[in-house]
Amino acid sequence: MSDDDFRDRYGPWALIAGASMGIGRALSHEAARRGLDVVLLARGKEQLEATAAEVAAEHGVQVRTVAADLAADDIGRVVDEATADLEIGLFVYNAAVGPNAPFVEGDLDLHLLSVAVNCRTPVVLCHLLGGKMAARGRGGIVMISSMGGTQGAVNFSTYNAGKAFEWILTESLWTELGDVGVDATCVLVGATSSPNYDAFKETLDPELCNRPDTDDPLDRARSRLMRPSSPEEVAVASYDGLGKGPVTYASPDDEFVSRTCFSLPRDEATLVWRGLQETSTRRPDRIAR
Ligand SMILES: NC(=O)c1ccc[n+]([C@@H]2O[C@H](COP(=O)([O-])OP(=O)(O)OC[C@H]3O[C@@H](n4cnc5c(N)ncnc54)[C@H](OP(=O)(O)O)[C@@H]3O)[C@@H](O)[C@H]2O)c1
Repeated sequence: MSDDDFRDRYGPWALIAGASMGIGRALSHEAARRGLDVVLLARGKEQLEATAAEVAAEHGVQVRTVAADLAADDIGRVVDEATADLEIGLFVYNAAVGPNAPFVEGDLDLHLLSVAVNCRTPVVLCHLLGGKMAARGRGGIVMISSMGGTQGAVNFSTYNAGKAFEWILTESLWTELGDVGVDATCVLVGATSSPNYDAFKETLDPELCNRPDTDDPLDRARSRLMRPSSPEEVAVASYDGLGKGPVTYASPDDEFVSRTCFSLPRDEATLVWRGLQETSTRRPDRIAR
């Protein structure tokens, strides 16, 4: 789709929830590069304003910021009020909370925060903005999920469950709203460079990550850890996927691993992700195979 067609179909404004850093920052730039005016939402005001200034200067579009917490109970009202005068034709949900601990040892409040940000708020905002798009008969919804959403995994119980929730929610919106001209796609993202990710990459066992060409999903997933996508690549793949189907993969390796894990018996799929955890030397209890 040309940038003009993209703007006609999904403009004039995009709202990116979780917009100031990492993949969200790249999604903000890419929407603006395609000619959309953008509303950027995140909590930290300073970084949010810095990203907004950068996007406005680079792409010459209108930029509005909303400093808000996506975990807040009244987030629907906050977003509704902040965007009441705008036609939001593209809604991108990118923020996530990822508790990383065994389920019962993990902090219950953090698990519940992840349910709020990864499940409750996507429902609230898709209902609000998807409703307006459906009434107009056009628009797009991009849900940034994860390859983690295709199976359960040690240490990522509520995160992976939330990513599966986002996937199935978006798939439902794809089939329902597609009938009235609104596209939805869920992006199953794999390893992507971000400050957090780059620190994690330092802890990977290079020996285990050096089998890129086999048909074993664990080998492919491990080698992918060493070759993360850039946030810009994820942003382009996400928008290119809109209008093509309910699921978008950020890279061919992500597609291979997600499809393979999804088709495996469930016990075997969780073993792939157990193996992935053991690739990091950060895990003192790892049994590297
Ligand atoms: N990076 C990876 O390797 C990877 C792999 C698979 C999937 N993903 C998915 O990709 C998405 C983005 O990941 P990322 O690594 O780019 O994240 P990130 O660097 O942590 O950035 C997240 C963005 O969301 C904002 N945010 C976070 N919590 C928020 C909240 N409660 N309310 C409002 N804004 C909030 C952050 O700004 P503030 O903190 O200032 O609010 C920031 O702008 C997530 O959905 C993640 O699950 C990432």
